[in-house]
Amino acid sequence: MSISIIGNWKSNGSLDLNKVWVKDFLNSINSSAIQDTAVCPPFIYLEQMIDLTSDIDLSIGSQDIDSSNGARTGSISVDACKDIGCTISIIGHSERRALFHESNLEIRDKLIAAHANNMQVILCIGETKEHHLSGTTNDFLQNQITESLANLELSDRFMIAYEPVWAIGTGDTPQSSEINAIHKFIKDIVQSSSKNNFTPNVIYGGSVSSKNAEVLFNEEHIDGALIGGASLNGKEFAQIANIYKDRGI
Ligand code: 13P
Repeated sequence: MSISIIGNWKSNGSLDLNKVWVKDFLNSINSSAIQDTAVCPPFIYLEQMIDLTSDIDLSIGSQDIDSSNGARTGSISVDACKDIGCTISIIGHSERRALFHESNLEIRDKLIAAHANNMQVILCIGETKEHHLSGTTNDFLQNQITESLANLELSDRFMIAYEPVWAIGTGDTPQSSEINAIHKFIKDIVQSSSKNNFTPNVIYGGSVSSKNAEVLFNEEHIDGALIGGASLNGKEFAQIANIYKDRGI
């Protein structure tokens, strides 16, 4: 999967703001960088964004999907997302885990449903401040990975976003070298726990902006970014994608 720069709008956007966003994005993005990008608006705006971007190479994704369809009031299935032209989804974001109590096993079911339908998936993992401070980050991540992925057959439609919970929306990020080492660890764990020894791309999320993007993208194992707040501005999001395209490695 070549998509590396992904915007997560969370519960933001409006019919009017989304039009401004697309205009700002197009005015700032280098044409060679567009194919690396995806943006994930709230479900209700997916169709509008797919229409607004129908003639450009920006992918539109969902922020979550349900693992099944039918009698599941209020949920959105993989089938429904694919039906309107959405081919990529975030799964297991820490806000879904914390606010909506999603477990690793539920996230595993979503992953299986997505894979069965050829949907691209970004699985989010990341430790809390508590685990960070107590030095148990690797154990925590390993548990998230193995509970969600053990013995699954993965493909290049799968990637991981490493998002330390304490770095989301705080401006407080780990050093790029620390992130790089954690990404290498994540790749090794996924490789050894997946059925087909698959090594995924690992992108980073947590207070990424055009100011810190260059330092991050020069690290060997940082394969892109999942961007929250800074993705709400089309120009800023485009600048981050341009920096990724021009990175030194
Ligand atoms: P921020 O970029 O606002 O820190 O959010 C990161 C995030 O949660 C993306 O999924």
